[in-house]
Amino acid sequence: MTHFLRDQDVQIWLAARPWLDVRSNDEHTLISYRLGQALLRIHPEADASVVLPAILMHDVGWKKFPPEQLAAAVGPNPRYPELQRAHEIEGVKIAAEAFARLAIPGLQTEAILAIIDGHDTRKKAISHEDALMKDADKLWRFTGHGVTTIGGWFDTPPKETLAMLESFVLPSMLTDAGTAMAQALIAEGTASAFMADLLHIEVSP
Ligand SMILES: [Fe+2]
Ligand SMILES: [Fe+2]
Repeated sequence: MTHFLRDQDVQIWLAARPWLDVRSNDEHTLISYRLGQALLRIHPEADASVVLPAILMHDVGWKKFPPEQLAAAVGPNPRYPELQRAHEIEGVKIAAEAFARLAIPGLQTEAILAIIDGHDTRKKAISHEDALMKDADKLWRFTGHGVTTIGGWFDTPPKETLAMLESFVLPSMLTDAGTAMAQALIAEGTASAFMADLLHIEVSP
């Protein structure tokens, strides 16, 4: 367990987890946490103690809304687009309460809350840490877990989901490292999606 999360992040994860058992947010959060660590290895000058707690807490606000509305809150034609902003606002409240209760010495609560507040709706980063958090969040979408989960929300097969991500999400990556990782994940996902077709392709003489 502690080999997965940094020791100082375990209590933050335990505070976030009860809020994350909707729309696979718990699994999304853990995958983004590791992707965030991968980005931090390329950007060691960024403050991991801001980026990683922000990743753990960023999506806690979703649980405040009816489950049936959640899948329809995102994507190309959302029915409840207002939930994008609303889950950020609720997330800041929940995270602020949790941080006050945990009272972790030296935790940069203000910087972390500022990142959570706007992690989806604010397209530009307010800090290097914000950029890495946003890229770790988005990178999950390109993973096998992300493609399967998002395909389930929109009822789209992997090829279509990956094409949508490549067109609409890839251009919004904020760091070169995040862009490169996303391209690698798209390459792997696309190869996997076309594997069966190509292994059995027949060329007529
Ligand atoms: Fe979010
Ligand atoms: Fe997220």
